[in-house]
Amino acid sequence: MHAWLCETLEGVDALRWKELPTPEPKAGEVRIAVKAASLNFPDLLIVEGKYQFKPPLPFVPGAEYAGTVDAVGEGVSHLRPGQPVAAIAGTGGFGTHACVSATQVLPLPPGFALEHGAAFAFTYGTSHHALVDRAQLKAGETVLVLGAAGGVGSAAVQIAKAVGARVIAAASSDEKCAFARSIGADDTINYTAGDLREAIKAATGGKGPDVVYDPVGGAFAEPVFRSIGWRGRYLVVGFACGGIPALPWNLALLKGASIVGVFWGDFVKREPKASAAALGQLAQWYAEGKVRPALDATLPMGEIREAYARMASRRVMGKLVLVNP
Ligand SMILES: NC(=O)c1ccc[n+]([C@@H]2O[C@H](COP(=O)([O-])OP(=O)(O)OC[C@H]3O[C@@H](n4cnc5c(N)ncnc54)[C@H](OP(=O)(O)O)[C@@H]3O)[C@@H](O)[C@H]2O)c1
Repeated sequence: MHAWLCETLEGVDALRWKELPTPEPKAGEVRIAVKAASLNFPDLLIVEGKYQFKPPLPFVPGAEYAGTVDAVGEGVSHLRPGQPVAAIAGTGGFGTHACVSATQVLPLPPGFALEHGAAFAFTYGTSHHALVDRAQLKAGETVLVLGAAGGVGSAAVQIAKAVGARVIAAASSDEKCAFARSIGADDTINYTAGDLREAIKAATGGKGPDVVYDPVGGAFAEPVFRSIGWRGRYLVVGFACGGIPALPWNLALLKGASIVGVFWGDFVKREPKASAAALGQLAQWYAEGKVRPALDATLPMGEIREAYARMASRRVMGKLVLVNP
């Protein structure tokens, strides 16, 4: 097997494509022949030691991938060689083969493309947990999605539409706003042009959004929280811009509003049944065509540096996927 090996925490330039001994699955594990692996924001952080999960060196990055089961370890009875699967493993995806605990493997239903399987559970699982579970979003409510052209943002747009909400997508360029419309947003705001609070007021008839989905953080959080509607729910999803916002608490009082934390990784571990039910609903929505990963590009696995550079410079719309021949 070959894989991109991270031996030092010096970022993507220090990754090396190496031949490694093909691992045998231990008890409870399966080996997957990787077809496709998607890029998620934590993949950028993990090779610099900046992510909350710090695997021991050396490791192969690539949190989310899909392929076919190649070998099955002792005690695994629900997966069989040749079966198409996706894995949310934290590491291991940026290579040709990976061994992973069977508990982190999701069988892909018939008709589920491997490239989509590699770009699904992380973003759609996060956004479903955020909007449906944490915010209790209802049909007819209005959601403002920041970073709406990104991975979790684009999933949030589609999930909010599937629930029956009205979606205002906010992003940093007109091109990204047009992309957000193409995947279902009802209205858009380019937050690099004009007054953000005025734009939110205009888009919501002065009422403010019922729910805000924020994977960006930084300087937008306070003006957006000031614009939220009565009983609004502000979903704290991530800090892609690097800055962790701080808010005056009186703002929550004035709107009867809630600041709601979202931590999908722990939700999956702590509430596996609820997580499985959410993924089941998402698979159903995929089959019905209500949600579908928008693939910005499918690059060969060898082009990992190009993939990282595009994500780090905010050039990705939807998801980037790396594929093996
Ligand atoms: N809480 C959870 O459970 C959970 C789960 C998954 C991901 N996350 C977090 O969610 C965030 C987004 O992840 P993602 O995979 O969707 O990433 P992504 O595809 O790169 O999207 C992030 C978006 O953030 C915006 N952004 C603003 N400033 C940026 C900067 N300096 N660098 C990069 N992007 C910037 C960009 O949109 P504009 O250009 O339009 O501003 C970009 O589209 C990350 O912080 C990630 O760690 C959290």
